[in-house]
Amino acid sequence: MKVIAITPLIAGIASATPFFFQPTVEPALLRRHITRSGLLKHVYKLQEFADADEKGNRGFGGTGHKKTVDYIVKWFKQWPQYYKVETQDFVHEYSAGSSELKVEGEVVDSKFFTYSPSGVLTEELVPAANLGCDASDFPAETTGKIALISRGTCEFGLKVALAGAAGAKGAIIYNNAAGELSGTLGAPSRPQGPYVPTTGISQEDGQSLLTDLQAGPVLATLNVDAVLENRTTTNVLATTRGGDQKNIVQLGGHTDSIVGAGINDDGSGVIAQLEVAKYLTKYKVNNAVRFSFWTAEEFGLVGSEYYIANLPKAEQDKIRLYLNFDMIASPNYMFGIYDGDGSGFNLTGPAGSDKIEYLFEKYYKSVGEKSVPTEFSGRSDYGPFLDVGIAAGGLFTGAEGIKTPEEAKMFGGKAGEWYDPNYHQKGDSFKNVNMKAFYVNTGAVAHSVATYAKSLKGFPKRDPSAPVKKRQTVEDELHALEHGHTKEVHSCGHKLPSL
Ligand SMILES: *[C@@H]1O[C@H](CO)[C@@H](O)[C@H](O)[C@H]1NC(C)=O
Ligand SMILES: *[C@@H]1O[C@H](CO)[C@@H](O)[C@H](O)[C@H]1NC(C)=O
Repeated sequence: MKVIAITPLIAGIASATPFFFQPTVEPALLRRHITRSGLLKHVYKLQEFADADEKGNRGFGGTGHKKTVDYIVKWFKQWPQYYKVETQDFVHEYSAGSSELKVEGEVVDSKFFTYSPSGVLTEELVPAANLGCDASDFPAETTGKIALISRGTCEFGLKVALAGAAGAKGAIIYNNAAGELSGTLGAPSRPQGPYVPTTGISQEDGQSLLTDLQAGPVLATLNVDAVLENRTTTNVLATTRGGDQKNIVQLGGHTDSIVGAGINDDGSGVIAQLEVAKYLTKYKVNNAVRFSFWTAEEFGLVGSEYYIANLPKAEQDKIRLYLNFDMIASPNYMFGIYDGDGSGFNLTGPAGSDKIEYLFEKYYKSVGEKSVPTEFSGRSDYGPFLDVGIAAGGLFTGAEGIKTPEEAKMFGGKAGEWYDPNYHQKGDSFKNVNMKAFYVNTGAVAHSVATYAKSLKGFPKRDPSAPVKKRQTVEDELHALEHGHTKEVHSCGHKLPSL
């Protein structure tokens, strides 16, 4: 027994990083290592991977994403004595494509929806009643035609499946706010009905089609060209060998982009982790730290859901908390903290989620910055952790939401504009990061990791028998609607416009 206990210590002393003699991690010490130039090196790397990709992105299943994953694995393998690196491969349905829409011979700007099938058709438009969230919203005339549906309240995928069930041959979804509309049907298929070729258009174009329809039939030609195939993809997990393995501090961000290089979304969360992980190796941790790099978040939290679904309960119970960093360097940023105590949005998490919010609030104060709560909806990779009762928190500098005048006073930038004007667009490139926000927030990542790696004193213990509150599902939302709560479900906090 003794020999077995001593061997790792000898190995530790012999290694380049003998954590045996290392100082215990301290928030102020770990933060001091972070530099803007350190962050930028990775920014250019991720851009390079996207540029070399045939589609110019780092979408899951493509070469840009594969290179990102390889880069992360190689990074952690620099410290084999310090980190145990695991990769988790699995298969998921990949989708990509383009769409073209012509109405009465004139081109209308349109966008592809992930998981839409291919198809070319010319048919009349039939508007769905209400928001197309219920089978009865699709009139009998929908059969054989193209359904015209407003965005809002329920998932795009449900609207399209219901249109398919009503016999529609195609679907056009128009935005319910300014700007173009693209998104995902959320799942490769649905029980409510078959998907039909689908495209997204602006609110303005949608309104103008509705006006045209009042004057008589409107003929549209829809051409959706899509690839749908199974692809293997990978999560990466790197856990410190040191520290209490029964009290794990886990953090994560996602490795895939959707349209462009995805440098803010979510290169920023990946890069912050890489830099913090590098400097953490100089210190001893009392609690184990696990860095996580999720694949296919843009396809609906696929990587993080796979991880939790395949993690035995006894292993889940060792995770004390999970910190999520998804979009932490938006050009027109706010310093947003997930509202774990529910004071801002009335959605709370497992015990401890509030403490994480307070830790970040204190951090921002300590560096002379203001902060605001953002909705704790579970609509990013922390959602699957909440589902199994793990306390969570994290940061978000904003996506397609609009900065308020009050926020412009607090953070600078432009009121009335998106926090990230290049959200889910080609322009999310190496130029699409606010370096101040990136630097301050990477400091916040270091601060939170160091705080909890050093001590979880005062942080609520996991109670594996506590009842867990599942995230709201679309069905819950519909139930709420039926009961007269008409509050619009919106996607702030999670950036994917899946609703
Ligand atoms: C992907 O694999 C699953 C499971 O084998 C299968 O049901 C599905 O049809 C496949 N999808 C495609 C697009 O081949
Ligand atoms: C907060 O949510 C709870 C449970 O969902 C609800 O009962 C309560 O009325 C809500 N409070 C506010 C202020 O909206």
